Amino acid sequence: MLVSAKEMLTKAKAGKYAVGQFNINNLEWTKAILLTAQELNSPVILGVSEGAGKYMCGYKTVVGMVNGMLEELNITVPVALHLDHGSYDACYKCIEAGFSSVMFDGSHYPIEENIAKTTELVKVCAEKGLSLEAEVGAIGGEEDGVVGTGECADPKECKMIADLGVTMLAAGIGNIHGKYPANWKGLSFETLDAVQQETGDMPLVLHGGTGIPSDMIKKAISLGVAKINVNTECQLAFAAATREYIEAGKDLQGKGFDPRKVLAPGFEAIKATVKEKMELFGSVNKA
Ligand code: 13P
Repeated sequence: MLVSAKEMLTKAKAGKYAVGQFNINNLEWTKAILLTAQELNSPVILGVSEGAGKYMCGYKTVVGMVNGMLEELNITVPVALHLDHGSYDACYKCIEAGFSSVMFDGSHYPIEENIAKTTELVKVCAEKGLSLEAEVGAIGGEEDGVVGTGECADPKECKMIADLGVTMLAAGIGNIHGKYPANWKGLSFETLDAVQQETGDMPLVLHGGTGIPSDMIKKAISLGVAKINVNTECQLAFAAATREYIEAGKDLQGKGFDPRKVLAPGFEAIKATVKEKMELFGSVNKA
């Protein structure tokens, strides 16, 4: 059964580790992440962007697929199904469809409007037992058409949003989605520290997990990050493994064209990436 992310993140924050959010795109992606979490006895959050939701034929299809897998694959570790960077309307659609967690990304609104909309969603999510992620300070880069400039959040604004009763808070600290440019200045630990001072026990969320060096990840966890989002890195691993299979001409040998064979190396590559991240984040055996 899907669970809200609240308990897993409260434990992570207290235990100084982070739970990974891995974005899903299709059946293979979802299966790879769930099986890895089960093998490593780790809690996990499946992220679904609005674009990926549309691609997978809508939120109800996603809920049906994930619930089916939890049962058929005997997944017993805690799993949350989470809307990633949702608009206000998408949050309601996912709540309706059976997600166990949503992110309302109001970071592009003036802070008053972000507060008003987040306040409403806090109420709805509390009634239905879902966890809610809010965002202050846009995450840079581009993900499924959502573009941000990578600003650093104002710690006072973070406190205002945290006090509304959200479950977890994404604060921009110079992180961006996708690959980091060569001239990236790194995470602003000064901002992260100030945000954590203001928000206390609130689990903080680090977006743009792809390509952040391990030492920075560890330092971010030590400063209160309890959820780390990874998307692009699984995509890169999947694409590289698939390319290798095709370039080696394996689809031309025997029944190598069978989609289950074509997609197998990419599936294994996602599993390996998720394993590496769970080990780095410290969530292994924390189910
Ligand atoms: P990356 O694609 O950079 O890993 O970011 C993922 C993310 O933050 C999802 O919200």
